[in-house]
Amino acid sequence: MASNVRASFELKGRNYIVTGGAQGIGLALCRAIAEMGGNVAILDMQDEPKEETKRLAEATGQKITYFQADVTNETSLKSAFQSAIDALGSVHGLVTSAGIALEKPFAQHTWKEVNKIQEVNVSGTYFSTQLFAEQIAKQGTGGSVVLVASITSHTVLPSHRMSAYSASKGAVRMLSQVLSTELAPLGIRVNSISPGFIDTEQTKVVRESNAKIAHLMFNAPPLKRIGTTDDLVGAVVYLLSDAANYTTGTDIAITGGLHIGRQIDT
Ligand SMILES: NC(=O)c1ccc[n+]([C@@H]2O[C@H](COP(=O)([O-])OP(=O)(O)OC[C@H]3O[C@@H](n4cnc5c(N)ncnc54)[C@H](O)[C@@H]3O)[C@@H](O)[C@H]2O)c1
Repeated sequence: MASNVRASFELKGRNYIVTGGAQGIGLALCRAIAEMGGNVAILDMQDEPKEETKRLAEATGQKITYFQADVTNETSLKSAFQSAIDALGSVHGLVTSAGIALEKPFAQHTWKEVNKIQEVNVSGTYFSTQLFAEQIAKQGTGGSVVLVASITSHTVLPSHRMSAYSASKGAVRMLSQVLSTELAPLGIRVNSISPGFIDTEQTKVVRESNAKIAHLMFNAPPLKRIGTTDDLVGAVVYLLSDAANYTTGTDIAITGGLHIGRQIDT
């Protein structure tokens, strides 16, 4: 008999670690996981969780814990990861949303800026997944990882001057494919999402520095709007859940159609 499809999307009784969960996409994903019945440990470099995070536990009835961590610092990441596992007891999934972006012409990027972007977006994602895999190997349970890549790993907008960022997100998407094979023997599925322009603090900073990009964000996607964090949560819940039990090594582009083509001349 076929299994119950509604039940297969539930995350009840499961525990998740979300990096970069203090705000933006990461926070929206924490909320979605909790709404689907999961407990969440947030790892973020901000000292304190925001009020919204504090209210999440009350609103959903789930356990939401917060640990300050810099994903580029080995000691900090390892210690926060261990605290998260101690708080949750065990872990079933990981979402890596910690990331930084920089909008400026290629020729003006400095060594320091490029190295920092690679460190946060690539090394931070890499080592968070390594720590997760170590824990799953101990538990022997299997698990699911969702890496947050970007539309910039699929396509380039002519006015989009984010060479270092795009390179880092291309690496994240490839990492998800490589790890899907390497971690399969542990029962770990690894997938990524590639959001298009999503209305968060990160895109606000870019919008404020480049009026042309600001116009593009709202008008270039074939669906003719900027995305919201709500547009991303369904795909991530799916990838974390049993509904995706046979899905690994996949990227879901959530871009309003932008990865296929543009609606306006750029
Ligand atoms: N907003 C978009 O349009 C968009 C599109 C595609 C991909 N993304 C990616 O989605 C992810 C989340 O983006 P967002 O828009 O929510 O950004 P955001 O800036 O609102 O949130 C990023 C979070 O990551 C945390 N962070 C940054 N550096 C860290 C570090 N070293 N250690 C731990 N935490 C750190 C920040 O404190 C922040 O809470 C990023 O990886 C971003 O590149 C965003």
